[in-house]
Parts: sequence; structure tokens; C-alpha cells
Amino acid sequence: MKTDHVQSSVRALTVHAPRAPLSGSVQVPGDKSISHRSLMFAALARGTTHITGLLEGEDVLRTADAMRALGADITRTGAGNWTVRGCGLDGLHEPADVLDMGNSGTAARLLSGILASHGFTSVMTGDASLRGRPMKRVMDPLAATGAVFLSRQGGRLPLAIQGNANPPPLSYRLPVASAQVKSAVLLAGLNAQGETRVEEPVATRDHTENMLRHFGATVHVEPMGAGGRVITVQGRPELVARDIVVPGDPSSAAFVLAAALLVPGSAVSVRGVGLNPLRTGLFTSLKEMGADLVISNERVEGGEPVGDITATAGALHGVDVPATRAPSMIDEYPILAVVAAHATGQSRFRGLEELRVKESDRLAATVALLEANGVRVEVVGDDMIVHGTGGAIPGGGLVQTRMDHRLAMSAIVMGLAAQKPVSVDDTAFIDTSFPGFITLMNSIGAGLAA
Ligand code: S3P
Repeated sequence: MKTDHVQSSVRALTVHAPRAPLSGSVQVPGDKSISHRSLMFAALARGTTHITGLLEGEDVLRTADAMRALGADITRTGAGNWTVRGCGLDGLHEPADVLDMGNSGTAARLLSGILASHGFTSVMTGDASLRGRPMKRVMDPLAATGAVFLSRQGGRLPLAIQGNANPPPLSYRLPVASAQVKSAVLLAGLNAQGETRVEEPVATRDHTENMLRHFGATVHVEPMGAGGRVITVQGRPELVARDIVVPGDPSSAAFVLAAALLVPGSAVSVRGVGLNPLRTGLFTSLKEMGADLVISNERVEGGEPVGDITATAGALHGVDVPATRAPSMIDEYPILAVVAAHATGQSRFRGLEELRVKESDRLAATVALLEANGVRVEVVGDDMIVHGTGGAIPGGGLVQTRMDHRLAMSAIVMGLAAQKPVSVDDTAFIDTSFPGFITLMNSIGAGLAA
């Protein structure tokens, strides 16, 4: 059965500071990166995979629909509980219709690696945001599989892919730090005879490597230079269904924890948050700002480190975040900028060029978010400099969220700690990654209008 996509009638919101501090203990939805991968890889495995804690956001539901259209049998058995009966490597079939990946760059880019190495033709599209995002970054390396790509100008979706069922193994050095590009190449390598190799000068999230191993592939990871890695995968492995437990998404927990740090007197815990070191750059940066963040109950669940995080409001100071940390917090800059706006002194975030090609141009959009609410911010080259106000920011502005869920949630957190209410033009896209965000925030006392 195909999933109904309810997105996206516009949902505007005006956010007021709550009358009392935020408090409570909550769980955030499952990790988006791991959720996409679990559906895709389970579809490529033989047998039945049970997934618990799957993120049921719009982006991941698009991946479920696409994998169904390619032949996998995917069923929801309860909240966050899904089963996938896979087709085996090379067992997918040609989809009968266009694959619509909605707002999701991860879905589109990872899937292109799978489609390039299957012997049929498919067409992928997405919403206006995704149709504006670059696909050339995956088309370039994947062209070496012998697949043929036909896209709109500038490598934009819709994209037709005529795959090659017998691709040669690839060897590719990532020109940009991108886990999506790395994953697309590794996924194409699954159907190749021999060893596919990816060099990444800066390590990016390694969920693909971890999960392919979990399903039985031979994946080697070696350090390269200062902080880089070489990843190899042996082609034509026997991928076998294995159950998956999806941890809470650190990129979603970020908004709840930031709100607790900024609303005076607050203390909030988020339980079961993924703590993969290639995802936790935000927490490192917040601690450097003097944030009271305590991690407890650390454990390993489903092969990923997980813990509970408690944030307590308090004074914060500016921070200088090095470019080498960017891949481990690439989705967290808008919310870090909101936190930095409340801190004392200047913050500098270095090497943010990749922010320009996210769900929106997040560099420009974050600047606009801050400026509209009375915060001084500059962009120097690829660096962002935020001039902290040392307390509640003025607020009172209207934020344009540009079809970008993370901007919408950042704007809401900003409004909770501002002197004057902050208006948000559209919160509907929050459903792509964090369904139930407003309800969850209200459960800790945010007092947001439904
Ligand atoms: C993701 C990788 C990152 C991140 C995105 C999820 C992934 O994108 O921004 O939200 O799951 O691989 P890039 O690979 O473009 O950096």
C-alpha cells in the first residue's frame, strides 16, 4: 500500500516566550539517516528485516514508497515498527512510475547509487526544494558505472537513470565532504564485481558502512591523512536480513536541547539519543560555549552508541567552530547560530560552503533568520560570524523557512527565548524529519499554538 503524503498546506505560527521554564524528559523520533538506510539496505537483502524506532517522517516515507515501487515488500506493523521483505542484491525491478523523493536529498542521492547499478530505467523527481538541489555530485562518480543519466540543466531533478546491471567497481575521492555521495558510490559498488573504494579527506557520518557490515557485507575503513578515511566494500556480497533498532536522531534532539539551554530556568532530558561520534559536533561545540549538557546511561543499541542527554539553562559564551568539525554537525548550524545569538561575545563557524546546497541555501537563510530578529551576523567567505547579544535576543521578526524543516524548528526555538514574538511563515515541512515536534515541545511547556 502506498503511503499518503499529507504535506503541505501552509502552517504559519507565532511563537511567544513561555511563562515558565521548560522541563521534562522526552524521546525524539528515530534517526533520519539510519531510517533511510535501513529501508534501502533491507530491500537489497534476502529475508525479512524487522525495524524498530523507524522515523515516520515524510522523507523516510518517500524512501519506503520508492523501495516498494522497486519490488520490496514493506509493511508498518505498529508505531515505528516496520518489516521489510527484501529482494536480494540485483533483485529490484523497474518501477512502473516516476519515483517522487519529496524533500529528501538523502533519499534521492543514495537511491541513485542503487539505481545506477540495476539494469533498468527509472526516473526520479522531488518537490521544488529538491528539484533545485545538485545531483551532479552523484552523477559524476556514478557515470563510471556505465549508467546513463539524463537530468535537467545543472544536474537537477527530474533525473532519468538507465542503470547497468554489470558495473565495474569504482574508485573515487570525494571532492566535497558528503556522506550522501560516499554512500551512493558504495551502494553502486554492491553490484560490481570486485572492490569499490572511496577516499574521504574528512570523515563523514558512517551509517552506510556500519549498516552494510551489519547485513553481512565486507567493508574496510582505514584512516587517511589528518581525519580522513579510505572505505572499501567488496562487491556482490550476500546481504542477509538483520533486525535494526534506530536510535533517536541527534539532529532532532538538538532543537529540544537548545530550547532548554536558552529558556531561563529550564532543564530537559532527551532519552535514547544516537551518539555516533561523526554526528556529535554540536554537543562538543555547545560544551565549548559553557553549556550544561550531561550525557548519562551510555550504551550500544543496534550497533550505534546511544545515551540520555540533559540540558540545563545557563550563561553561554561565543565559540570558534573549526571547519574540520562541520561534517559532524552539518545539519546543526542553524540551531547553533540561534544559540550563539544568545551567548556573550562573538561566534565564528568556519567552512560552511556545504550549507548553500541543503534543503534551502541554509547559509543565507540562517543569516536572514537572525537579522530579521535583531541579531547582527556576517558571512566572510564561507564562515559565519554571529554577534551574541548576551541574553534574550530582540525577536519580533518574520522568518521565511524556504521549505526547510530545520529552519522552521530553529525559528521556533528562537521565538521561545526572544523578547518579542517570532513569526514563522510555514512549519509544515517539520514533518519531513520531526513529526510531532510541536506536541513534544508543548509537553515540556513551550505553549505553542497547535
Ligand atoms: C546525510 C548526509 C548529510 C546531511 C543529511 C543526511 C546522510 O548530507 O546533511 O541531512 O544521511 O547521509 P551531505 O552528504 O550532503 O553532507
